[in-house]
Amino acid sequence: MADKRSQWKSETGFVLAAVGSAIGLGNIWRFSYMAYENGGGAFLIPYLVALLTAGIPLLLLEFAIGHERIGSAPLAYSKINKNWEWLGWWAVTFVMFGIVLYYVVIIAWCLNFFLLSFNLGWGGDPNNYFFKKFLMVSKGPSAIGEIRTRIFFAVAFIWVLNWIIVYRGVEKGIEIANRVFMPLLFILTAVLVFWALSLKGAGEGIKAYLTPDFSKITKPKVWIDAYSQIFFTLSLGFGIMIAYASYLPEKSNISRNAYIIAFLNSGYSIFAGFATFSILGYMASAQGVKISEVVSQSIGLAFVAYPKAMSLIPGGSIFGAIFFFCLVVAGLSSSISIIEAFISAMVDKFGYRRKPLITAVSVLGFMGSVIFTTNGGLYWLDIVDHFLTHYGLVIVGIFECILVGWFFKLEVIRRHINRISSIKVGVLWSFLIRYFVPVILIIILLGDLYNEISKPYGGYTWTSLILIGRDWVLATLAAAFVFASRPWRTEKRNEKNRESIV
Ligand code: ALA
Repeated sequence: MADKRSQWKSETGFVLAAVGSAIGLGNIWRFSYMAYENGGGAFLIPYLVALLTAGIPLLLLEFAIGHERIGSAPLAYSKINKNWEWLGWWAVTFVMFGIVLYYVVIIAWCLNFFLLSFNLGWGGDPNNYFFKKFLMVSKGPSAIGEIRTRIFFAVAFIWVLNWIIVYRGVEKGIEIANRVFMPLLFILTAVLVFWALSLKGAGEGIKAYLTPDFSKITKPKVWIDAYSQIFFTLSLGFGIMIAYASYLPEKSNISRNAYIIAFLNSGYSIFAGFATFSILGYMASAQGVKISEVVSQSIGLAFVAYPKAMSLIPGGSIFGAIFFFCLVVAGLSSSISIIEAFISAMVDKFGYRRKPLITAVSVLGFMGSVIFTTNGGLYWLDIVDHFLTHYGLVIVGIFECILVGWFFKLEVIRRHINRISSIKVGVLWSFLIRYFVPVILIIILLGDLYNEISKPYGGYTWTSLILIGRDWVLATLAAAFVFASRPWRTEKRNEKNRESIV
């Protein structure tokens, strides 16, 4: 007998879990380096525009689909139109067998750095330490080399934590974990921000953060980065928000929750950005260089610039420990949501028992992470992340809008939101979903493809980009079609949708 569909204990539990999914490495590690790379304040404007024009409308859409169709992504899409089940499978597959595999590895780096913080174990040259001693990066993606033991064990530990939390279930595992994680994260982040603001030179950093450089805003790259960041940060196109909303009871204030979650998530990123830019200002003043010269490789911002600063400020080891602990907590609350999205899809279609399934998926996930713990792991991570976030998430977003906006009566979904929510959604939302969001995303996708073809991403060889990046996208797509082609082993697809009952 299949397990009963899970449910949140309370709406607050759902909000905290969705915020937990949204707030992750993307808000601290990715947002900071995106903002840094794209000229500080210049990034905030496209970021906020992307939030309002695509982030919130799509979050509302994903919540409403999951809630109205009462299903995880594949089930919900197939109940909208049976030919589109593959889209849901693709989202949950490339996220489970792509994004979360390396995401856990970054959490494992953070766990290592958390431990290193106590005695500032990165020594006098954190750049050298991170790349040469800690990752021991090889010459390129084809030189895989050996497994880095300390990363490997930390990865195993993080997978065990993921497994424990998801195994305990939606209400007793995910909901309870987030009830602890989120308040803890907010308090510790506030400590970091106020501490960082008090450092010498912080003012200069904040000026760089808040002063828009309008010459940068005209560059398409800034806009592409802002839209893809919004996707990543709100966990859109992951299938997560659909599954999470499907666990809500009938009476749920969907639109109010979507606004709360979106603003908490972006508010958190912007707030945490104050710490990063204060640190950058401090470093610039300590080293007598410009802010734009503090970090050479943006991916190393958290693992190079922060440790450097920690070695200089009084009490830096405590600051470092809190910072890396925040990253671990934020990362965990997101990785569990990714696993849950896949589990939910498998349970819906194949009727598997949750617990054995979670164990099997966690073991497979752990095995998949191993490649990213090798000497060549950083390159693999960079390539897979580039392809899955730039193509996977964006293509799912485009199809999602086209499917619901064009091949289905979007008004059914809008009516559903308005029937149960306190903040009503107008025709502007329908316009955004039908026309604006898909057009913007298609432009972004074309811009990306153009860049892709004009020069190899990151200076890698074409062979590595094709074999690792493109083929990862294609392999997960093929797996999605296989899942979609299997017969349904549950009756869930024939269950009534909420709007057809009223
Ligand atoms: N939304 C998650 C993050 O930002 C995946 O890290």
